[in-house]
Amino acid sequence: MKRILVTGAMGQIGSELVPALRARYGREQVIASDIRVVADQDLDAWRPFRMVDSTQRRQIQEVVSRFEIDTIFHLASLLSATSEEKPHVAWDVNMGGLYRVLEVARENRCAVFFPSSIGAFGPTTPKTRTPQDTVQRPTTMYGVTKVAGELLCDYYHTRFRVDTRGVRYPGLVSYVAPAGGGTTDYAVEIFYEALRHRRYTSFLRADSRLDMMYMPDALEAAIGVMEADPDRLVHRNAFNVTAMSFTPEELAAEIRKHLPQFAMEVRVDPTRQAIADSWPDSLDDSAARAEWDWEPTYDLAEMTKDMLEKLEAKLSASA
Ligand SMILES: NC(=O)c1ccc[n+]([C@@H]2O[C@H](COP(=O)([O-])OP(=O)(O)OC[C@H]3O[C@@H](n4cnc5c(N)ncnc54)[C@H](O)[C@@H]3O)[C@@H](O)[C@H]2O)c1
Repeated sequence: MKRILVTGAMGQIGSELVPALRARYGREQVIASDIRVVADQDLDAWRPFRMVDSTQRRQIQEVVSRFEIDTIFHLASLLSATSEEKPHVAWDVNMGGLYRVLEVARENRCAVFFPSSIGAFGPTTPKTRTPQDTVQRPTTMYGVTKVAGELLCDYYHTRFRVDTRGVRYPGLVSYVAPAGGGTTDYAVEIFYEALRHRRYTSFLRADSRLDMMYMPDALEAAIGVMEADPDRLVHRNAFNVTAMSFTPEELAAEIRKHLPQFAMEVRVDPTRQAIADSWPDSLDDSAARAEWDWEPTYDLAEMTKDMLEKLEAKLSASA
């Protein structure tokens, strides 16, 4: 990876992946892009930045040629809850965007990182320690685009030798950028509300168990799989990765160890609850461990402590 393009860079993952890549490969080597406009006061922090709509092949091609890009981290996408609200747009952005990125990658010999998700599984998938290779019959538009995306990445590798790689992320917890319309957003919002109001109303049932990961581990996963020795990779795309598995109730109990007055109520959002109910409780990540030495650092206790410290500092700085 010498010259990197990140699409959807202003989202929850990109806001932290861009600085992590720049720290590793050099600022000028990592081009951030998004369909959103960067505010004038933020331009210096984002530079080099280009507006790129990932459904527009010409725009992707222009930035790849201009900066001699050899690796694309393709993060632009609609997340699970938003995709259920707008399934047609989700198909256009998630599938149309990936297809065009892969086509540009094929013509320009770029490697591609594609983040799939636990949303690529469905109600007929084994729920506990979900295997790497298993039944994938998702019942959401998001899931459909993730399974199709995994297969398309495999196809571009076997058919055109494009160096496609990727992971299936669980729900991601972070404090830099807000969560972007996913089913696991509660696990981010709860920290903001705990610090601001000592109360939170969860939109998932208190016993809804889902797989989760803290952002520093998610960044390690993305960079780790792209830097992996290709000769060791059997799967290449859609590696299961996981760090912890918890329910809203268990997360609230962990927060209460630091903020004893914290209280959580529940008001279920049927749409997001139905999505959560169709997803696994926990993933088996042994393929990632065996093929590229994946190993997470943060468990629930360490993540909660770090999130509260970092978020408190951020909130008091902006107060
Ligand atoms: N955050 C999670 O918990 C999670 C979990 C599993 C997988 N993922 C996957 O990781 C990727 C990034 O997720 P995220 O949480 O950063 O998402 P996000 O919603 O926070 O950010 C997505 C970014 O894409 C941009 N975007 C939307 N449409 C675009 C287009 N047509 N062209 C260019 N940019 C566009 C948005 O402006 C936004 O900045 C997605 O593919 C998502 O499915 C995320």
